[in-house]
Amino acid sequence: MNARQIRPLRSEDFTEIMRLEEEVFARCGESVLGAYYVRLCCEFFPESCYVAEEDGRLVGYVLSFVKGDEAYCTTLGVAPELQGTRVAIQLLRALIAALAPRVDSVWFTVKEDNDAARALHRALGARDVGFRDDFYGPGDRRLVSRIERPAFERIAGKLRRLGLVEGAIARESGDAGIAGAA
Ligand SMILES: CC(C)(COP(=O)(O)OP(=O)(O)OC[C@H]1O[C@@H](n2cnc3c(N)ncnc32)[C@H](O)[C@@H]1OP(=O)(O)O)[C@@H](O)C(=O)NCCC(=O)NCCS
Repeated sequence: MNARQIRPLRSEDFTEIMRLEEEVFARCGESVLGAYYVRLCCEFFPESCYVAEEDGRLVGYVLSFVKGDEAYCTTLGVAPELQGTRVAIQLLRALIAALAPRVDSVWFTVKEDNDAARALHRALGARDVGFRDDFYGPGDRRLVSRIERPAFERIAGKLRRLGLVEGAIARESGDAGIAGAA
């Protein structure tokens, strides 16, 4: 099996992310992220974005932004030939473990008919919380789902069993943190 590394985004990942946008989204007729957006993620938001690397090339990525006590996960993509090999779930677990000290929830939007993404969100303990109409343009209806703090600890438990994180993933502010929870 090829060695797969899940790690935070770096400035030099820009070109590979743009390539993956084409491979994952353009190929199925979806619009792709612009260069300015991707460059901003690479330069200013690398702590809330993760990539999966295999044999020296990127095979998956997740981009998110933190505001106050919540994170908004805007983009998740896996190279077509590696879909179904758990890249996405590994990326999201790593992202959530990294964000857990800073936020109490992570939310996603997804098209109602995107079974793969919806199953993935469910596997991570996400709850559907409603719809947003015209989200990325007229007629674009998105289901909003949210992963909240209790699910974070289940994810951390899984990562601990795999030896990928140590200890609890506490909130930095102290007593609201799951480390102190009974
Ligand atoms: C959605 C996407 C990111 C999933 O990535 P992935 O690496 O294939 O997913 P994983 O292999 O980590 O699967 C994790 C879980 O998701 C579910 N899942 C994944 N692909 C699925 C599919 N095609 N149908 C149903 N469930 C699926 C399964 O529950 C799976 O758990 P299991 O392995 O125990 O069965 C990937 O299909 C993709 O890049 N799609 C195109 C872009 C997209 O739609 N992005 C999301 C919206 S921004």
